[in-house]
Formats: sequence, structure tokens, C-alpha cells
Amino acid sequence: MLIDRYGRTINYLRISVTNQCNLHCLYCRPRGRAYALPTGDELTFEEIGTVARAAASLGVEHIRLTGGEPLLREDLPELVRKLADIPEITDLALTTNGQLLAEQAPDLAAAGLHRVNISMDSLDAERYHVMTGGGSLERVWAGIEASRHVGLEPIKLNVVMVRGYNHDELPGFVRIARDQALHVRFIELMPVGPAAAQAKALFYPAAEALRQIEDLHPAHEGRPGPGPAQVYRVGRGTIGFIASVTNPPCPACNRLRITSQGKLRPCLTTDLEIDLKPALAGPEPEAAVGEALRAAVAVKPEQGLHLTQASQAFTEMCQVGG
Ligand code: 5AD
Repeated sequence: MLIDRYGRTINYLRISVTNQCNLHCLYCRPRGRAYALPTGDELTFEEIGTVARAAASLGVEHIRLTGGEPLLREDLPELVRKLADIPEITDLALTTNGQLLAEQAPDLAAAGLHRVNISMDSLDAERYHVMTGGGSLERVWAGIEASRHVGLEPIKLNVVMVRGYNHDELPGFVRIARDQALHVRFIELMPVGPAAAQAKALFYPAAEALRQIEDLHPAHEGRPGPGPAQVYRVGRGTIGFIASVTNPPCPACNRLRITSQGKLRPCLTTDLEIDLKPALAGPEPEAAVGEALRAAVAVKPEQGLHLTQASQAFTEMCQVGG
């Protein structure tokens, strides 16, 4: 078992498979901003498999593939197949922007992926296009349909609430959750990367969001999943609030992250990291990665820094996939 200094059990690993992305979301990597993200040097599927097996043998049960945009990684279903073969992994999920999902959903499902979270910040095609720096909302809907068709469910939709861009759309999202058995997660904008400079102007708090949709009668269910959301049932679906800033989920944090280049990160909001490459290059990679996982858990901070120390210096979200 991986248990940290504060008694938290770590059973969830988020694996970024690429830092490349095909969108330019305004709070993540807006167009026109220069990016010095290193490319290449990604962990191989073999290496990711070793990391996942080491994690599973220490009690990790949930794995999520992230990016960048994970569907840009070539032959992703091959990796999914490797991870789905690990018996201890009971939950294998993927977070995507949905642009390429319609084409890939069948192969991903056949390879053993369980479910998808899809980022969808607006229900209005023009606004979606603006917020994502060129994305197609139609492609997202096609991805949702394709995922449903092949059973990549429950389907969650991630909505980062951005004042002045989508904060008036919450009732619309509640309605699609209710009517289409979707699971919408409203996420507070974290002052990370490009969002840091404008965080005050763009921030929309979960409490205000909840007030806005109260008359749609959400029924509180608490925190039922492995994630940090406070969840409410609405008709056939659910909505949830991830109050990363006003009510940080740190006390219940159960996760570690690895970047696409094999840096193990005990906390999303700090630059603490452990390079897994040396462990992977040694004679007994799985055991060495196990030691690195223990070391990361041993230094996992009690609290994230995003409340007190918003900084441009923080790792870009596109490296660690949220
Ligand atoms: N604050 C909150 N969520 C963010 N994401 C990216 N950047 C931020 C931020 N600054 C979200 C994306 C996606 C998930 C992977 O992370 O919108 O849904």
C-alpha cells in the first residue's frame, strides 16, 4: 500500500502520454503564447506498462490516461491493451478533448478502456470554438455518441467554469446531464499557467454555480467516486462540482501523476518531481519504480500551492493533464 505522511491512501495514477495538444484552450495553452515544452523523449508503452504494474502491485487501482491530448499519441489502443491486462486495475479511464474520439472510440473500447471524460466547456459551437482556440463542438458530440455506442461509460463531461465565457451556461449543462444520462463536472479554474495572470477576472466559484442551478433540483449524493467532486443526481445523469480553489480536495487526495516524459509528480500544483527514467533503465525496473513511487508518496505535500501562491512558474497543465 502507498500511504503518505498524512494518512492518505494513494490508489490513483494519472499518466500523461503526450504533452502535445490539438486545441488552444484559453486557460491552458492559448494561441500566440510561446511554449517551450520539451517534445520527444516520451516513455515507451513498455515503460508505461512497467510503471503501471509497479503501481498496481502497491495498491493502485485507478489509472487515467491524459495529455496534452492523449488521442494524439500514436497506437494508443496498444497501451490501453497493456494496462487493461493488469488485474489489479479495476478502473481504466481516459481524459480527452473529444476532437478525435469518434474515430478512436471503437478501438479504445476493444482494447479494454472502461470509460472517458470529455472536456466540453461550452454547448454553443461558436463559444466552444473561441474558448478552445479552434475546436469543433460537433466533433465532441460525435465523440460522445461513439463512446456511448461502444460502452465507454459512464461518460463524464468536464466543464471548466470561466466567468464571461461560459458561466451562464450551467443550466444548459444540467439539462443535458438530466436528459442524456451524462455526468457533468463543473471545475473551478485553477490559477495555473496562463490562467494565473487572469485568474481574478475569469474565476467563477462553485458556490455561485450551485446557486445558479438550484431550481433544477439537484439531489446531493456526496463524494461517491474516486475523484474530488461533490455530486448531485439530476434525472438520469449527475452533475458535480470540483471546487479546486474554494474547497481544495487535498485532504482526500489519492493520486500521483506522471508526465509524458516520465517525471513522477506527487502534487499537481508544485514542481516537485522524481525522474523515473533512471529506475526504468536499471536492471530491475519494476522494483526500482516501486521505490520511486514510495519516495514520491513520502514527499507528497499536505496542501497544493494554488491557493496561496498562484504563479506562472507552475508546470503547464498540458504537461500533467489536469
Ligand atoms: N483549471 C482547471 N481545470 C483545468 N484544466 C486545464 N487547465 C485547467 C485550469 N487552469 C482541465 C481541462 C480538462 C482537464 C484535463 O483539466 O479543461 O478538462
